[in-house]
Amino acid sequence: MTGAESVPAEVRERAVALAKELEEHRFRYYVKDAPTVSDAEFDTLMRELEGIEEEYPVLRTPDSPTQTVGGAVASGFQSVDHLERMLSLDNAMDEDELDEWFDRLQRDLAGAECHFLCELKVDGLAVNLLYENGELVRALTRGDGRTGEDITVNVRTIGEIPTRLRDDGGHDVPELVEIRGEVFFPIEKFDELNARRVEEGDRPFANPRNAAAGSLRMKDPRMVAQMPLHMVVHGIGARRGFDIDCQSHAYDKLRAWGLPTAKHNKVVDTIDEVKEFIRYFGEHRNSVEHEIDGVVVKVDEIPLQGRLGATSKAPRWAIAFKYPPQEVNTKLLDIKVNVGRTGRVTPYAVMEPVVVAGSTVAYATLHNQEVVKAKGVLIGDTVVLRKAGDVIPEILSAVADLRDGTEREFSMPTHCPECGTELRPMKEGDVDVRCPNARSCPAQLRERVFHLAGRKALDIDGLGYVAATALTQPLEPSEPPLRDEGDLFNLTVEQLLPIKVVVRDQKTGMPKIDEKAGEHKIMSFFANQQGEAKKTVEVLFAGLEAAKKQPLWRVLTALSIRHVSDTTARAITAEFRDLDRLMNASVEEIAAAEGVGPIIAESIVEWFAEDWHREIVEKWRAAGVRFVEEGGGEKATGMLTGLTTVVTGTLSGYTRDGSKEALEAEGAKVTGSVSKKTDFVIVGENPGSKYDKAVSLGVPILDDEGFAVLLADGPDAARAWLAAQAGESGDSGEGAAPEDGAEQAAG
Ligand code: IVH
Repeated sequence: MTGAESVPAEVRERAVALAKELEEHRFRYYVKDAPTVSDAEFDTLMRELEGIEEEYPVLRTPDSPTQTVGGAVASGFQSVDHLERMLSLDNAMDEDELDEWFDRLQRDLAGAECHFLCELKVDGLAVNLLYENGELVRALTRGDGRTGEDITVNVRTIGEIPTRLRDDGGHDVPELVEIRGEVFFPIEKFDELNARRVEEGDRPFANPRNAAAGSLRMKDPRMVAQMPLHMVVHGIGARRGFDIDCQSHAYDKLRAWGLPTAKHNKVVDTIDEVKEFIRYFGEHRNSVEHEIDGVVVKVDEIPLQGRLGATSKAPRWAIAFKYPPQEVNTKLLDIKVNVGRTGRVTPYAVMEPVVVAGSTVAYATLHNQEVVKAKGVLIGDTVVLRKAGDVIPEILSAVADLRDGTEREFSMPTHCPECGTELRPMKEGDVDVRCPNARSCPAQLRERVFHLAGRKALDIDGLGYVAATALTQPLEPSEPPLRDEGDLFNLTVEQLLPIKVVVRDQKTGMPKIDEKAGEHKIMSFFANQQGEAKKTVEVLFAGLEAAKKQPLWRVLTALSIRHVSDTTARAITAEFRDLDRLMNASVEEIAAAEGVGPIIAESIVEWFAEDWHREIVEKWRAAGVRFVEEGGGEKATGMLTGLTTVVTGTLSGYTRDGSKEALEAEGAKVTGSVSKKTDFVIVGENPGSKYDKAVSLGVPILDDEGFAVLLADGPDAARAWLAAQAGESGDSGEGAAPEDGAEQAAG
């Protein structure tokens, strides 16, 4: 069944259509730097075509997209041949496919022992640098693998790429060498770049990869010089005048010549260790400064690479393990606004629901109208949505090429969508606009009540988002039992029973729609159908009783004072162990507390100056809420007294609050932001940007194990532990996980 006539017509037509579509997408991606589909969608199309060709090999012609590399050569730059072809890589989408590659490898190697070099797959633009007698004479894009575009003038502007190789440490510069690598645009600089482009009337780049590719193709090298481009080298093409035995040793040479090699490469012996590396960076891919879309596994020994050879498209000695996509395209259906606890009005995107990084995303905050403008997105656009693991989803950009003219611009409402009050910035120069009706704007009150019952505040069972809504905005004719937070502890069963409420979405504050009825979802929250109290009432009253005995820092957090987070509240109550003392303190006195700045102090004084705020405090006092910290005011003198720590991510065996409490129990101060004065940053699973900050400032970082050492044996033991970790990774010169420790100890 190999004859062309044996292929059903519809299969042939589908293959032709797929090939055409894939070529079109490649052209947009490689040549125009303006893709209209996500990598994930492209991969799905490619896999479909591969599947068809697997079944009908006659369709696998040499010019099929499955058999060719990259894109065509863009016009505007001179086309030049690479001395040696630049191949692509075959992909493994899961561990089974990796095992298949490994089995094939073992078969082909027929017993020869090999090592695996694990590298990050940098999501950038592949380039080929030609050095002759140490001089950079040419830089080409990959193009179709045989011929690339000459971008030498632009590449010369990248500071990290030497125009002359260093003759260093006995590594004589060779007569000729082609260096392959990836030029990338750092993720953290991306938003800034797009904002500038939109302001200047240029089209925003879809993602950091396109930013790198687009920058390198700019016509004016002076513009390129302003881009924060970087490079990681990952291979050698043609070479004369030197020999190499292993790819990892080749990198040592390249580093000695002054070329930017990768920090995270690791040589391992077994496929299980390869998988460990893959898993580690699967969890830590957001701690790398560039985007990565997978891990590249290479047979390290060059003679074995030669024995294994290559197909027309990719080497057999390497494979790219692909991570699930963190970027997808979806439709921006609307931009709505949400009124927060402090009255801030925040636009957010309502999108066609889409699965990205393991969860379904339908909303993404857009922060303020400036951000909407800077991103250049219009309602109705197809947008690029990025969700990096546990990180909050973010719209990166719009796919301008898919616009059909029906898209419209977002404009910020002038009045509060919930109470109709005119919106305004609170201070001159503020970007955010707020609803000034703090006391009785239903949205603000609902959010404040929900906040005060939260885990970081009074932690009240039975007072979730629906209950908070029910207490502040029941359906007419019921009156809201709460006009502000003051009467929270004076609620009666009689007030609760008749309440019916429109259920709202906790993330956005928007009323939920009952999908069957197509109307607002309404419920009777406190009473059953017979009008008797549900269990929820009992739970709520018990929760309120328990809340009265909560420590002072929780009470302070519950008051929703601007800038006073739970961490700040802990710092304040460590100093002012009585709410009355705090209420009567001056800005200077409050700002003198450790970890509290003048802005926070001012905000506290302003808060207590408001009559209706004082009324809340007095009503709570009358209800028996605890306003004095027990323990008589003496400071903690645990093993960690005097240490300033920051926790980011979840530590195994602890809740997020639990790890902070464990530190504080030993006298450590737990603050919310990393500075040079921080003694330790403790990093658990899914850490936030505090981790990156710690890395950039060189603050010592402890993982689960280091945290356990710190709690059990104190700071000196934790420092010794860090030094030991550094020693381990320093010896091998490799190592994924310990490398962070090494950097920290050195810093
Ligand atoms: S090795 C013959 N190593 O991924 C081996 N490639 O999808 C060719 N890439 O064309 C490449 N990081 O542009 C290699 N650590 C890495 C890489 C890497 C990114 C790119 C490269 C390649 C593409 C294949």
